[in-house]
Formats: sequence, C-alpha cells, structure tokens
Amino acid sequence: MPADVLVRPARPEDYEAAGDITVAAYASIEGFSPGPRYEAEMRDVAARVETAEVLVAAAPDGRIVGAVTFVPGLGPLAEFEGADESGMRMLAVDPAAQGLGVGRMLAQACLERARATERSRLVLHTTRAMTAAHALYRSLGFARTPGRDFHTPGGLVLEAYVYELSG
Ligand SMILES: CC(C)(COP(=O)(O)OP(=O)(O)OC[C@H]1O[C@@H](n2cnc3c(N)ncnc32)[C@H](O)[C@@H]1OP(=O)(O)O)[C@@H](O)C(=O)NCCC(=O)NCCS
Repeated sequence: MPADVLVRPARPEDYEAAGDITVAAYASIEGFSPGPRYEAEMRDVAARVETAEVLVAAAPDGRIVGAVTFVPGLGPLAEFEGADESGMRMLAVDPAAQGLGVGRMLAQACLERARATERSRLVLHTTRAMTAAHALYRSLGFARTPGRDFHTPGGLVLEAYVYELSG
C-alpha cells in the first residue's frame, strides 16, 4: 500500500475522516484511554489547521488511512519552547491499515517539512503505552529526551522524543 499512498495537506472534505481515524487509532492503544476532552480535540481538524498543518495519507481510491499534525513553530499547538523548533502531534493510522508503512510516511513528511523550513529540531511527546510509535520514532532517528518530558495534571507522563536536524 505505501507506494500507492499519497501524503498531502488535508482538505476540508477530509477533516471528518481524519478526525475519526485519529480517535479510532488512539482508542485502539492497549492501556491508553484518551478521555472525552482529548477525543473532541482530536476530531477538531478544522481548529488545528488554523495554526498548524494537518497532513493526511490518502489511498488510491481517495480513502483517508492516516493523519498527522505538523506544528511548524510556536503557537497554541506547540509543545515545545524553541523558536527554531517544530512539532509533530496526533500521528494516527487507521487500525485496519497499520503495519504497512503509512505511519512512517507521515512522520517522514513532518521531518521533511521541518527540514525545508530550516528548523533545528522536531519535537514530539508520546505516552508509555504507545509502544509501536516508540519503535517507529527510534527507527527514524529520534532520541528519547527525558529532560523535555511533561507531566499532565492527571498524572500522565508525556515522554519527549527529539530529532536533531541541525549539525
Ligand atoms: C504508531 C502508528 C502511527 C504507526 O503507524 P503504522 O502505519 O502502523 O506504522 P508503519 O507500518 O509505518 O511502521 C513503522 C514502524 O513502526 C514500528 N511499528 C509499527 N507497528 C508496530 C507494532 N505493532 N509493534 C511494534 N512496532 C511497530 C516499527 O518500528 C515499524 O518499522 P518496521 O516496519 O520497519 O518494523 C500506528 O500504530 C498508530 O496509529 N498507533 C496508534 C496511535 C499512536 O500511538 N500514535 C502515536 C502518538 S505519539
């Protein structure tokens, strides 16, 4: 499938499918429960495109099979503090299309965007339960960076991974 899959910016007609897939992918993670507030945020693609770029993976028949939010720089969606940094959030692949290389394509598209805008690094946060994602990030060259972890008020540790683009 990946050779036929196209990664491109989400169009308004993709927003609903991209939101649904994001919720479905996160709901499928064993040991992780997003909760209604985060689910509503994941579904709100229209809000995300105001300040970030939502990319989708489209199958040859036009079906959306994955989505990711590229946060180009500082702003409401940034989970980083450096003006020379970009972020990647809400990487998700339709559970029926996982394991085929789509997640890797979406993550690589974010890296390409960060590189093209001459950012120093790409920063993301994940949780302990997201083990498939950790393997993907490590294989792409992200480094686990505990010094940039966040602790949510609910007691969840958001574990940082950083990809150095400069030097
Ligand atoms: C993480 C996720 C986006 C990966 O997407 P995917 O299309 O299934 O991944 P790919 O097929 O591109 O695989 C890329 C790499 O991910 C890792 N990976 C994928 N599925 C895995 C699994 N079930 N177990 C362990 N590692 C896995 C492997 O390193 C794999 O590389 P390889 O094929 O060379 O071994 C997808 O599993 C998903 O949507 N998960 C739920 C949401 C989530 O956790 N998002 C990340 C938030 S930080």
